[in-house]
Amino acid sequence: MNVPAEPNENRAIPSVVGDVLADISASPTPYHAVARAVSILEPAGFRGVDLGRTLPVEPGSYYAAQGGSLVAWRQQQEHRGFTIVGAHTDSPNLRVKSHPDVVSAGVAQIGMEIYGGVLLNSWLDRDLGLAGRVSVATSSGVAEQMFCDERPLMVVPQLAIHLDRDILSNGLKLNPQKHLAPMWALAPPTDDRAEADGTSSSVGALRHHLATVLEVPPEDILAWDLMAFDVQPPSIIGRDGDLFSTARIDNLLSTFCGVRALVELEPDHSNRTSVLALYDHEEVGSESATGAAGAFLASVLERIATAEGASRSEYLTALNQSMVVSVDGAHATNPNYVDRHEPSHRVALNGGIVIKRNANQRYATDARSEAFIVDVCRRADVPLQWYIHRNDLPCGSTIGPITAGRLAIPAVDIGAPQLAMHSIRETAGVLDVVHLLAAIGASWTAP
Ligand code: CO
Repeated sequence: MNVPAEPNENRAIPSVVGDVLADISASPTPYHAVARAVSILEPAGFRGVDLGRTLPVEPGSYYAAQGGSLVAWRQQQEHRGFTIVGAHTDSPNLRVKSHPDVVSAGVAQIGMEIYGGVLLNSWLDRDLGLAGRVSVATSSGVAEQMFCDERPLMVVPQLAIHLDRDILSNGLKLNPQKHLAPMWALAPPTDDRAEADGTSSSVGALRHHLATVLEVPPEDILAWDLMAFDVQPPSIIGRDGDLFSTARIDNLLSTFCGVRALVELEPDHSNRTSVLALYDHEEVGSESATGAAGAFLASVLERIATAEGASRSEYLTALNQSMVVSVDGAHATNPNYVDRHEPSHRVALNGGIVIKRNANQRYATDARSEAFIVDVCRRADVPLQWYIHRNDLPCGSTIGPITAGRLAIPAVDIGAPQLAMHSIRETAGVLDVVHLLAAIGASWTAP
């Protein structure tokens, strides 16, 4: 009999892993990820600062949030440099267009733009919710409201195999303009002309839905950043309960391991300033007011240093004594596609933290920054693995090279191994969450 002697009845996982999965689940958008981070930081004594005012002088724990990005730091008395742990809050997804209401064949749909490198097939036949932020007119100006409709509101139906016979020989072909609009209602009967020129009664339907949920008049809704998400909660999976699957492992796993490691630090854990930088817009190149290629982090770091009276020269000296640890998902070796991976750099789920290197600087790791993290992880008993992309495939990138370039300080790219990166639902190992928390915490306490 091949039945295991001890069937999987004990799926108990470390409570911090459950916490991180709950964080990911509560964060369908970068704005919700920042709100969730704030809800963890504030009870731990972090004070929000208003970037429109002078930063506080006294040492302490602070954060500054801007849209889908957040910088949190533990300010020290002296400026012996910064240890910056960076991650990103955005994930590839479908985002609502400005004129979203579409009617086709009597079905009301929502027009979506494709955000980032979406594995489009993974969004088919999923129960989708809608979340983001909505700007609302009020008597005293414009107010921003968080929006989250967690109901299974939409679905993108795949074409039946009987109507797509080529799929067996040619694979699934999706046109991002034509095939990704979710349906969310059956439209009232309308004549074909009204449907074609967009004057059918469905126009304004999404606005009305937002207005109903937010309890405001539809005309007071001025603008939105809204996106679809999979409503299925995270699962602990596998015979031994040592894997998990959820949306947005890339990169909310790194985001919330960073937040939870930061609040666990002792007050005098280091004589460097510990910084957590969570950026939006990594999946689309980071070039934005809140992205890693913008001035957000550099300006906050300079203001941290100068608020205490350090000169610009002293600030630049502190930067010179600094290190960036860029944390993002790493590709575990996919057992069905072993040939897509570099043969002598296999990466195993639950095998430990992955150091990513790329000679062409798609990852920022060099010998100096690699030595830093190897030393840190040895001290913390965190197992390590190395990732190198095949020479015959183009390599992805991270905020590592961008942050290193903006600040002119060394950076190391690390991450927890995962499968199915950029799918609506990704898979990773339970133990690697513990490894990642330990590696991040140890980076901040490095001697
Ligand atoms: Co990523």
